Amino acid sequence: MFRSTLACLLLGFYYITFSQQVGHEARGVGFWDNKTCNGSNGDEGICMSNLQCGMVKGKRVGNCGLFGACCQVQRSCNQETDQKVTFFNSPSTFTESDCNLKIKLQNRRIGQIRVDFLKMVLRQPSNKTSSFTCIDDTFTVTPSVGLPALCGVNDGQHIYINVNASKPGYNSAELKFHIAKRSNNSEQASWSLKITQLEVPPRNVQSPAFDADWDINSIFSDFSLNPTGGITTKRGQNKQRLRFILRVSDYDKVAPPGCLQYYTAKSGMYKSFNLNNNNGPHLANLNYAICFKKVDGVCAIKHTPVFFQLSGNSNNMKATDRDCDTQNGNNLLTEDYLFVPDGITSENVKACKFCYNALGSNNSVTARSRGPQFVTFMSDDKIGDDETLKELGFSMNYEFIDDSC
Ligand SMILES: *[C@@H]1O[C@H](CO)[C@@H](O)[C@H](O)[C@H]1NC(C)=O
Ligand SMILES: *[C@@H]1O[C@H](CO)[C@@H](O)[C@H](O)[C@H]1NC(C)=O
Ligand SMILES: *[C@@H]1O[C@H](CO)[C@@H](O)[C@H](O)[C@H]1NC(C)=O
Ligand SMILES: *[C@@H]1O[C@H](CO)[C@@H](O)[C@H](O)[C@H]1NC(C)=O
Ligand SMILES: *[C@@H]1O[C@H](CO)[C@@H](O)[C@H](O)[C@H]1NC(C)=O
Ligand SMILES: *[C@@H]1O[C@H](CO)[C@@H](O)[C@H](O)[C@H]1NC(C)=O
Repeated sequence: MFRSTLACLLLGFYYITFSQQVGHEARGVGFWDNKTCNGSNGDEGICMSNLQCGMVKGKRVGNCGLFGACCQVQRSCNQETDQKVTFFNSPSTFTESDCNLKIKLQNRRIGQIRVDFLKMVLRQPSNKTSSFTCIDDTFTVTPSVGLPALCGVNDGQHIYINVNASKPGYNSAELKFHIAKRSNNSEQASWSLKITQLEVPPRNVQSPAFDADWDINSIFSDFSLNPTGGITTKRGQNKQRLRFILRVSDYDKVAPPGCLQYYTAKSGMYKSFNLNNNNGPHLANLNYAICFKKVDGVCAIKHTPVFFQLSGNSNNMKATDRDCDTQNGNNLLTEDYLFVPDGITSENVKACKFCYNALGSNNSVTARSRGPQFVTFMSDDKIGDDETLKELGFSMNYEFIDDSC
């Protein structure tokens, strides 16, 4: 009896020690590496030990690694998270309320937070203020991402939030829903957000933040980034640790500065907020950039509309550039447009601003540029009174095409 208890204790002790060691050694090797894993019913999780999954109040959605847990961290109203990936889900029913999630940075290297709206259905914007603004149900973010409150139907959208562990006001983030009073129980609000904390490559690996975090003061007091982007070390043995540091950053997912949205595939689709099955309306007071990860050696991107309906002037059929501009004296009441730098349409018109019906099933726009690839969407705070010029929004397929500049 005593012996077997002792054996169990020893085994348990050994297991925990072993687990912790493997967990530790597994950094970058792949047992419980905190990388994403797939749970049994398609749920995405993070691979960690069972112990760790319990500690972060995660839900085990499958197996991974060596006796590890594919662990999904789920949070709901008025909770907080410091995890790499968190799912923020709406409660099943609502009365009028606020529902916020506080995001604490997992480590000092986190520089961006990507929020994927797997699902987001809130009440439609109101036109009471003579523009389509979200005043009943609202979704807002701190620190600000330069957007007004969002609402309506936004499944599949995403946003990037810039954070900075060293900067007051930016060293955490908060996602805030306000849900308006319902007159009956049939109108609900629902969302499921996937929140991913992204490590940004260090600007300067000798900066105090990185020294402190990596405890590299003593080990790496003698390396520097050289002008070609390589690394110069004085001591050979530093190289391996250094490679590790650079590898852990979420390089491929980090958006260039100034991008609210960032698409990393060679082709895909983007659309305006609250496109709502092509019924819109798009929201007022928008001014944001949608960026695309440049494909090496390719400098053209083709934007083909699936749906395109913005405000404009029905007397002017081109609806490009100055036609989209209120200062042109062309009686436009509103100014809403998609801006595509260096655009040339399939009808061979050079133009950058597109409004009204400028783009359609027969008219795509290709941008050729050696620089970064992005578009911006601008909307004003007015609603035109011409019923035929509805402010609905857009959805566009994009594709990098093999073309030189
Ligand atoms: C994985 O995440 C857990 C929970 O945050 C943490 O305790 C553990 O140290 C991490 N493991 C690795 C290998 O980074
Ligand atoms: C999870 O499943 C998706 C879809 O089947 C797949 O694309 C992805 O590579 C899988 N991820 C991992 C970590 O296995
Ligand atoms: C504003 O909303 C009212 C009621 O829903 C609707 O009748 C009116 O047409 C809307 N105005 C505009 C400009 O969309
Ligand atoms: C983060 O904030 C600190 C303090 O304001 C600043 O010195 C640093 O450059 C910022 N880092 C980035 C990547 O913007
Ligand atoms: C419940 O409220 C919604 C939105 O206000 C309305 O469209 C719907 O008709 C209402 N249903 C009932 C049964 O009153
Ligand atoms: C698109 O072009 C085809 C062939 O030129 C034409 O038959 C069709 O009517 C056009 N469609 C639209 C919506 O302009």
